[in-house]
Amino acid sequence: MAGPVPELEDRATTCAKRLCEADRVLLASHIDADGLTSAAIAATALERAEIPFETVFEKQLDEEALADIAATAYETVLFTDFGSGQLDIIGDHEDAGDFTPVIADHHQPADRETAYHLNPLLFGINGASELSGAGASYVLARALADVSDTTPDPAVAADGGEPSDARRSSSELCSDGGTVTASGAANARADNCDLAALAVVGAVGDMQAAGGELHGANQGIVDEGVAAGVLETGKDLALYGKQTRPLPKLLEYATDVHIPGISNDENGALRFLDGLDLELKRDGEWRRWAGLTNDEKQTVASALVRRAVSSGVPAKKIDQLVSTAYVLSEEPVGTELRDASEFSTLLNATARYERADVGLGVCLGDREGALERARQLLREHRRNLSNGIDLVTREGATQEEHVQWFHANDEIRETIVGIVAGMAMGNAGISRSKPIIAFAEKNDEEVKVSSRGTHSLVRRGLDLSVVMGEAARAVGGDGGGHDVAAGATVPRGNEEAFVERADEIVGEQLS
Ligand code: C5P
Ligand code: C5P
Ligand code: C5P
Ligand code: ZN
Repeated sequence: MAGPVPELEDRATTCAKRLCEADRVLLASHIDADGLTSAAIAATALERAEIPFETVFEKQLDEEALADIAATAYETVLFTDFGSGQLDIIGDHEDAGDFTPVIADHHQPADRETAYHLNPLLFGINGASELSGAGASYVLARALADVSDTTPDPAVAADGGEPSDARRSSSELCSDGGTVTASGAANARADNCDLAALAVVGAVGDMQAAGGELHGANQGIVDEGVAAGVLETGKDLALYGKQTRPLPKLLEYATDVHIPGISNDENGALRFLDGLDLELKRDGEWRRWAGLTNDEKQTVASALVRRAVSSGVPAKKIDQLVSTAYVLSEEPVGTELRDASEFSTLLNATARYERADVGLGVCLGDREGALERARQLLREHRRNLSNGIDLVTREGATQEEHVQWFHANDEIRETIVGIVAGMAMGNAGISRSKPIIAFAEKNDEEVKVSSRGTHSLVRRGLDLSVVMGEAARAVGGDGGGHDVAAGATVPRGNEEAFVERADEIVGEQLS
């Protein structure tokens, strides 16, 4: 059977077979939306394959974290959404007989190889824009369904399972037969194709849909999710919060494309909506985008575009008002879980605050306690992002020749300083023509560094994973990541030397 990403098929099968040989597996994953969805996909696949496992999360897979993992009695460790960048240290543990690593990752690999290593970058696929950690985990999950002989018999599972109407229409790609029957959902489960929805949340969480839609290997996963009945895609307004934000807030907070008199303008957004000939309130409350009829959506969108045109927003920007939306069709309308982008933010709100357990619970289907707790954490996360962006915009970034930077000290949490840096780019005083480097306090000895670039800088040669790795090692730290977004940890007091070295490297890359 052809998997969602043919190039990775053989390696995925090799990795899956190795997992099936294990008595039990330690699953280790990264603490962000992509890491959580990676873990949820892997956990579900292991469970369905009846392989016992335990899950741990790490902020960073450094020597200490790996030593802890090595100290456990697990002989097989599955790393998801990290592991490639730490292959040097992992390899030493492997050589010492501490454990056998199986890796499903998309970060830049360290200069060492291992047998069970699934990473798009090894097969000519871009790990920053075409496949996420959750995507790599999904490819592995699909292979695991194939090689393990314990997956439920579709016919049996169809009786005992919980096929929703949406899942019944599952077809070709994921059900082998192409028949549209009640066993479609069970087939999707047997093939692990239902996990494509989480893979898309991971990719969106890693900003892989930044250009407006997912592409490359990600598109193959989207297709499988659609066929399995767990995903719907279509062109829609490119605003964040279509499921949960009341309409005025949806428009007011949408600043990626600035529309004068509406963006960042509470009264302006209200006046704009009041001026439309539509019933946009129900029981005195503003409705949400997801609850509008198609005609109503059309009316609002057209008026928005007209306003943008009449206030001189350039055509290229206006195009960006529409993008591909990824809807998790089995989740209730009007919840964070239905929109891949809102879902991923909800997950970041848990894992980046040391509550990965909560996010994992949500991914695994806990719609009670975990979801409630995640929503509380989300309110806090939003407040922190907004305060962080305000702070950075107020204080601005220090401009060097090729990079710009700021130091948040203890005012922005180190786990979200990268998100803040990325979101602040393009605000007043924060240019989009230079990569941004952000520092935040990690502990008494160390400082966290996050960096973000743009795709246009990457096309000109920028590779932040190299910049972070080399600049960090020059001052006794370490780092890595992707071309467009990377990070590092360095000993305190080395920030200036770090910036100086980073500025040089970026200068060379862009020359
Ligand atoms: O660990 P990792 O791969 O998960 O993190 C990716 C990070 O890079 C995310 O925080 C995401 O916001 C950021 N990113 C970005 N722009 C991109 C791609 C990734 O800011 N185009
Ligand atoms: O928090 P996370 O990195 O998942 O956010 C992904 C993207 O979602 C951000 O880069 C931003 O464009 C958008 N977002 C937003 N408003 C929020 C949270 C996220 O517009 N409150
Ligand atoms: O933490 P931040 O969101 O800035 O991370 C951006 C990217 O850099 C992520 O993909 C992360 O996994 C990677 N990173 C890394 N090594 C570090 C810090 C971050 O590979 N020391
Ligand atoms: Zn990732």
